[in-house]
Amino acid sequence: MCGIIGYVGPKPASPVLLEGLRRLEYRGYDSAGVAVLQDDAITVRKKKGKIDEGIARTLADQPAPGTMGIAHTRWATHGEPSDENSHPHLDASGRIAVVHNGVIENYEHLKERLLDAGHEFQSGTDTEVLAHLIGVHYERLRDGDATPDLLNEAVSAALREVIGTYGIAVISSEIPGVIVGARRGSPLIIGIGEDENFLTSDSNAVVAHTKQVVFLNDYDVATVTAGSFEVHNLGTDTADVQISKLEFDAEDSQRGDFEHFMLKEIHEQPRTVENAIRGRIDSEGATARFGGLNMTPAELRSVQRIIIAASGTSWHAALIGEYIIEALAHIPVEVEFAHEFCYRMAPVRRDTLVLVISQSGETADTLMALREAKRRGHRALAIVNVVGSTIAREADGGIYMHAGPEIGVASTKAFIATLVCLELLAIHLGRMRMLSAGQATKTFKGLEALPAQIEQVLAQSDAIREIALKYAEADDFFFLGRGYSYPTALEGALKLKEISYIHAEGYSAAEMKHGPIALIDEKTPTVFLVPQDFMYDKTMANLEMIRARKGPVIAVASEGDEQIARIADDVIFIPKVRDELNPLIASVPLQLFAYHLAVARGCDVDKPRNLAKSVTVL
Ligand code: M6R
Repeated sequence: MCGIIGYVGPKPASPVLLEGLRRLEYRGYDSAGVAVLQDDAITVRKKKGKIDEGIARTLADQPAPGTMGIAHTRWATHGEPSDENSHPHLDASGRIAVVHNGVIENYEHLKERLLDAGHEFQSGTDTEVLAHLIGVHYERLRDGDATPDLLNEAVSAALREVIGTYGIAVISSEIPGVIVGARRGSPLIIGIGEDENFLTSDSNAVVAHTKQVVFLNDYDVATVTAGSFEVHNLGTDTADVQISKLEFDAEDSQRGDFEHFMLKEIHEQPRTVENAIRGRIDSEGATARFGGLNMTPAELRSVQRIIIAASGTSWHAALIGEYIIEALAHIPVEVEFAHEFCYRMAPVRRDTLVLVISQSGETADTLMALREAKRRGHRALAIVNVVGSTIAREADGGIYMHAGPEIGVASTKAFIATLVCLELLAIHLGRMRMLSAGQATKTFKGLEALPAQIEQVLAQSDAIREIALKYAEADDFFFLGRGYSYPTALEGALKLKEISYIHAEGYSAAEMKHGPIALIDEKTPTVFLVPQDFMYDKTMANLEMIRARKGPVIAVASEGDEQIARIADDVIFIPKVRDELNPLIASVPLQLFAYHLAVARGCDVDKPRNLAKSVTVL
């Protein structure tokens, strides 16, 4: 949510910043801007709108020369998307420029104080207040010439007054060659180059330049020049600085020949499954093995209950995880929205393991749930995609998805990777309890067969598009299923609504008769998940209830099911798999259906309105 890139080195900064912004655009696309320093003067260019239509055009008409600068792509929190509210923001003197991710919660109080002191503001943002506050401390601390230490101290002093979250990059026109960055609750990373350095909120923005990075910790303040960087921590005064290596290439986050990142990522899913399984199956012991759970078998054996906390698509994966873990490991599982878990007073027994799930590893709600679980003294594990992310680093242990960069705002491959991790975890826990070697081996074999089966579904993309086109004018959709297909239906509905803006409700097929069926008519299509699993007959009975009310039905059904072909208006056939693997195959046609429908309606699939890839505000 919002993206920051800073550059200091020998190259012209604007093209480096612009390229970084393009790589960050999935993080926010309401507006974008740059501040570039040359000859003791900061040039600020900023523009409402997506990068290519906004800031890129502005820079082409009005270049910003210089070899160092900071840039930002915004997802609005305070103040509507507009040129004025775009970052960077300047202090009252115009010498200091700031870009900021996060929310300054006490900004109104700080603003009042500054207004009383005669400050005037150009925007409605909390970030401009922070810029002015840094400027006030800069003046107060100044003793002779401006130095890198002065900027660092002014930033540190301002941040001591701030309540809220921030990842910031700051420059002063009087201190060429220096960027100061700081973080609390919003990621910030130093990219270490050859005679050049970077500051960014997302390693995607720098991986084309360097794979050497330092993930800053909360309360770290960094001073970055072309040839050096120094970090201190506002809380402890010493900083834990570790250089990490990025394990993906710049090409991994390129769109290639696909029209959209979402489509590319849907098509990557056979590899996603393979990568999530690789090295994790112990065939001899008929169990799964993990390198980073950091729990002894005895500790895992003593777990009596699991709480899974997550948000959005990761929450849907968690719901499917509940079904899988309860079936394979017989451990009671409760799934919480991460934000609810943080703030309600749920009594949690001591023998409970908390598991959080997050693709980005930065979702603020999920991070808070992880911290709350740890504060209550629970062991807290995480399933995370982004290596080195805050959740990955703060969890007691966990499982990486190994899905590679996911750029499409609508999560697809990370969802599938999460489900693979949950299957493996369920087997790992189950084999410590009652799950037989034979049962575990059958699920392993099913998982290993999945990549080829997903390919089979992907090959039906054109046919799925034809079906989607038939329903492209519908205003409302239902997605229904039972058993494992119920949470899968929730995810199918989310995919459709977030990228096509069509109202879609995921529901339990059985629950419909208790009220929502009143909404069914000939204009309201239902996507019915009706694989031949343990719920088949009952789901078919629910399907008949929809047909009886003239609701059009698009069925996602098992290959060879002749009965469904006679009843449904349209059928997408999927390979027959074991019950607990159904969500991994049934989700794929739902992703394609949402994708084709959104494209047909002219929606910007990779940058849906009002959304951003990673939600780092509470
Ligand atoms: O990075 P996370 O998995 O923590 O993100 C959670 C949700 O914000 C995310 O899944 C969101 O719902 C996606 N837009 C769904 O496609």
